[in-house]
Amino acid sequence: MITNNIQTEIGEIISVNGNILTVQLSDNVKSNMPVIDGIVYRIGQIGSFIKVPLGYSNLYGIVNQIGAAAIPDNIKELIADDYSKICNNQWLNMVLVGEQVGRKFERGVYQSPTTGDKVHLVTIKDLEVIYGGYNENNSIEIGNISVSVSLTAKINIDKLVSRHCAFLGSTGSGKSNAVGVVLNAIANKGFKSARILVIDPHGEYNSTLKDKSYVYKIRADSSNQEKELHIPYWALPFNELIGIFTGNLTEQNKEYIREAVVAKKLESIEKNGINMEKELVSADSPIPFSIKELWFELDDFERRTFKEMRKIETVTEKITEGDAKKLVSNEYPPASAGGGSPFLNHQAKGILSFLDSMRLKLKDSTYKFLFEPGDYTPDLESYVKQDLSNLLYEWLGGDKTVTILDLSGIPSHIMTSISGTVLKIIYDTLFWGQELKIGGKKQPIFIVLEEAHNYLKAGEKSVSSKTVQAIAKEGRKYGVGLALVTQRPSELDETVLSQCGTIIALRMNNSKDRSYVSAAIQDELQSMMSLLPSLRTGEGIISGEAVKIPSRIQFHKLSNAPKSSDPEVSTEWMKETNATLEDYKNLLSLWRNQKLKEN
Ligand SMILES: Nc1ncnc2c1ncn2[C@@H]1O[C@H](COP(=O)(O)OP(=O)(O)OP(=O)(O)O)[C@@H](O)[C@H]1O
Ligand SMILES: [Mg+2]
Repeated sequence: MITNNIQTEIGEIISVNGNILTVQLSDNVKSNMPVIDGIVYRIGQIGSFIKVPLGYSNLYGIVNQIGAAAIPDNIKELIADDYSKICNNQWLNMVLVGEQVGRKFERGVYQSPTTGDKVHLVTIKDLEVIYGGYNENNSIEIGNISVSVSLTAKINIDKLVSRHCAFLGSTGSGKSNAVGVVLNAIANKGFKSARILVIDPHGEYNSTLKDKSYVYKIRADSSNQEKELHIPYWALPFNELIGIFTGNLTEQNKEYIREAVVAKKLESIEKNGINMEKELVSADSPIPFSIKELWFELDDFERRTFKEMRKIETVTEKITEGDAKKLVSNEYPPASAGGGSPFLNHQAKGILSFLDSMRLKLKDSTYKFLFEPGDYTPDLESYVKQDLSNLLYEWLGGDKTVTILDLSGIPSHIMTSISGTVLKIIYDTLFWGQELKIGGKKQPIFIVLEEAHNYLKAGEKSVSSKTVQAIAKEGRKYGVGLALVTQRPSELDETVLSQCGTIIALRMNNSKDRSYVSAAIQDELQSMMSLLPSLRTGEGIISGEAVKIPSRIQFHKLSNAPKSSDPEVSTEWMKETNATLEDYKNLLSLWRNQKLKEN
């Protein structure tokens, strides 16, 4: 043991500044690559570990600077006139990151070393202590530690999920694979009610998690066990719905349509027997209504002509009877050009061109998932066969761990709005259902957002960016964890990125992106960011809550209580929920009534 220590000793501490240590390497370190127990070590690589034994415990640090740059200023001044005094010595700076007592390694240090303390190389045996010791119940294996294939890399899922995480890296750096590895490992863990929702704009995950996931997709291939993705338009907030149609509307006309929508939703709660207080119904409420009928009525009002001026009871006879279902307008005798009868509707809003764009979109088959969402399509009277509870039950209550919403068939210009809305629907659901057994606290959810920058790019006020920001800020209280996956970290909102407790940074070539990632990482570890451009595919630097120590790892490759306390993800997931549609009906009613509990 003692000889080992001598073998591993490489220098001594010259100065201590908070948790940064300056180390002078001994003159007698003969080689930068000593061999210990037959294994070659390299001294002082950026990102490598160094040990400071202090009696019964060992402190560990990460090298973050080497060479001349690491020489303390006062020493630089001292030797300015005589550089030969130090030229035989090497210097390095390290950041203390954790402490080992016995076989246990903890992040953070409780003791401080002092000048003159010796520093040692970290051997494989030490690394086993550092990287070992994860609790089997709440950790998963995702790869191996880069410096040693024999060391498995683990992460703590409770922290990963509840404190949010971000997978960042240039295209092709291995983000999707890394996410797949994590999801797969969670799915294989034997949890009974773990739930993960992947919002997948490119349909990347369909095959990776095959037997562990349900895939919802536009124009689903049922032979491939995909299910049809429906996103009922009536669940969209009013502005998102209206935003789908082109054509400008004045604020006044927007209000006019908003009121018409509210009236339809009010009728609908009666007809569908929806339990909801009328005062709470707004154009944003997730209540079914017939958009075709809305269109038809608005359109009819614009087209009407009158036999007598300004007398709305004297509507002219229709020339052709329209058909709301087929989106055919009523036709009236045209108003006379000469100022005589028939007269124009002087109350018309002048929104015919908007209504026409609406009609085109309603007929467009690429919007079928939205405007004719299967059993969620209201008839002209606003009756629906299936309410949103059924959809939520499918998305959130499935018997497989992962649900993938493959949005690849959605027209690109409405993608952000739709995916933002989906996210909002889910977050609202879990927020209002928080006290239920299917709410986020009792059954936490992990939401993976591929191409996460798209949600935030749309601007501060969009549903998508508001929702992502809300989840990032307060999701953990309600058991909603986010995984943001993006190749453009610089387009993510800084506050959102800084809410991510765990950062998984893969290869990243763009310096602007790197500087954003650096900003989200503990100051002392900035130098590790300089490694990012040189990482291999599937290799990443993980830092933050889910790992004990910032680590450079190689991912496996996939073959195919008090209100604000964090829910314990793995403990909750271990429980059976036996959720039924009834639970989701109850949940929907709570959401609509904006209540957390039934009275
Ligand atoms: N850990 C790994 N080991 C070996 N190969 C890997 C690893 N991770 C990813 N790859 C390979 O690298 C390629 C790109 O991986 P992946 O699709 O995960 O990248 P990405 O970062 O998601 O890219 P994009 O931003 O374009 O979506 C794939 O062909 C994949 O097989
Ligand atoms: Mg990808």
